[in-house]
Amino acid sequence: MDKLRIEGGQPLAGEIAIAGAKNAALPMMAAALLTAEELSLANVPQLADVATMERLLRGMGVVVERSGDCCTLRAAAIAATEAPYELVKTMRASILVLGPLLARCGRARVSLPGGCAIGARPVDQHIKGLTQLGATIRIEHGYIVAEARKLRGARIVTDLVTVTGTENLMMAATLAEGETVIENAAREPEVVDLAACLNAMGARIRGAGTDRIVIEGVPRLHGAHHRVLPDRIETGTFLTAAVVSGLFGTADVRLTAAAPGTLDAVIDKLREAGATIDVEPNALRVRARGRPRAISLRTAPYPAFPTDMQAQIMALDCVAQGTARITETIFENRFLHAVELQRLGAAIDIDGNTAVVTGVSALSGAHVMATDLRASASLVIAGLVAEGETVVDRIYHLDRGYERMEQRLAALGARIARIR
Ligand code: UD1
Repeated sequence: MDKLRIEGGQPLAGEIAIAGAKNAALPMMAAALLTAEELSLANVPQLADVATMERLLRGMGVVVERSGDCCTLRAAAIAATEAPYELVKTMRASILVLGPLLARCGRARVSLPGGCAIGARPVDQHIKGLTQLGATIRIEHGYIVAEARKLRGARIVTDLVTVTGTENLMMAATLAEGETVIENAAREPEVVDLAACLNAMGARIRGAGTDRIVIEGVPRLHGAHHRVLPDRIETGTFLTAAVVSGLFGTADVRLTAAAPGTLDAVIDKLREAGATIDVEPNALRVRARGRPRAISLRTAPYPAFPTDMQAQIMALDCVAQGTARITETIFENRFLHAVELQRLGAAIDIDGNTAVVTGVSALSGAHVMATDLRASASLVIAGLVAEGETVVDRIYHLDRGYERMEQRLAALGARIARIR
C-alpha cells in the first residue's frame, strides 16, 4: 500500500495549477446517462473516484473515453441499470446514478451506500424526493430498487441541505413531466456547475446557487461540451499548506486555474490567521511568514465554511498561536484525524462535535494513518511542519480526491515522496 514520506520544515514557494472539481465532475459524468448523445467534459481531474465512476458507467454500457483532462461519455443505449455494491461501497457518490437512470430508463437498482468513516450518511432525502417525483421505491437485499413509468414534476422540500441529494433530484427532474421546485436546495458551486452543464444539454433549470431551484422538464436532453469548474477544496488545501509552512520562512505560493469566488469563507479564515491573500480573476497568491494565529470555525452548508476543509484547518491550528474551537455540524464523526494529529504532538480536546485545539510551537514527525480523504490532507499538512520524518499510511484515501498531491507539493519545495 502506498505511503507518503514527508520531511517537514520547508516554506512553500512557487506556482501550481488547480485541477477540476471532483465533486462537480462526478455528478456531470452521471448526467451523461440522461442522453443518448455525447457529453464531452473538460478539466476532469485524474482521481481514483473519477476512475470508479468511469467503471460504474461502463458497466451500464456507457462508452467512456479519457484523454488528458478530457472525458467524453456516450450513453447511446443503457445495457444495465444497476450500481453494484462492490463499486458503491468504495465511492458513496455512486448514488448519483440513481436519479439519471430513473429518469432515462424508468428503473434503477443502486446499492445502499451504508455508513462510512465520517458518519452514517443516510440517503433518505434522495429517496423521499424521487418518490415525490412519482417513483416507487423499495429497499431489497441492500439495494434501492426504484421504478417509475414517467416522473412528474413536484414541489420538494428537503428536510436538510444535501449536496448529492439536490443533484440527484435536479438531474431526475430535467426529464420529468412539468415543473419541479426543490426548496432548501444545496447552494454549493458544484450544484451550480452541474446545472450549467445540464442546461447546456438542453435542460431548463433556474435558481441553482439559491435555496430554491426550479426545473422545467423537457422531453429529452442532447449532447454538450462543458468545462468543470476548479476544485475549491483542493485550492483551500494548498492555501492552508502554504500558510502553515510560513512557520519556516516566507511562504509565497500562487495557485492558477482557480475560482477564488467559490472560496470566500476559507480565504477569510486564512486572512484571520495572518496570511496575505491576493485574489485575481482566476488565480490566488498567498503569502505568510511566522506562526499563524489560531482560527475558530463552524462548518455549515455553502456559502459558510465547508466541512471538507475542517481537517486541514485543524492541522493549521495545531501549530498556531492561541486556542481554536472547531465545530463540525455536517458529519457526526469527522474528527478521526484529531487522534492522528495527537500522535504528532498536537493538543486537541474533543467535546462532542467541538474540538478545542491549543497550538503548540512544534509538532514532531511520526507514523500516522489516514482515515478518510480530507483527514489524509490534514495529516500531510501537519507532516509538512513537523520536525523530522512523518509517514502517512493508507494514502489511497488521498488519491481519491487529490491529483498527484505529492508531486505538486514537491514542485512548491516540499520534501515529500511516495513510497511503497
Ligand atoms: C457532498 C460532498 C462531500 C461533502 C458533503 C458536505 C460530493 C460527491 N460529496 O457529500 O465531499 O463533504 O457534500 O458538503 O459532492 N443527509 C441525510 N440524508 C440524506 C442526505 C444527506 O441525512 O438523504 C445528511 C448527511 O448524513 C450529512 C448531511 O446530510 O450529515 C449533508 O450530507 P450531503 O450534503 O448529502 O453530503 P454528500 O452529498 O454525501
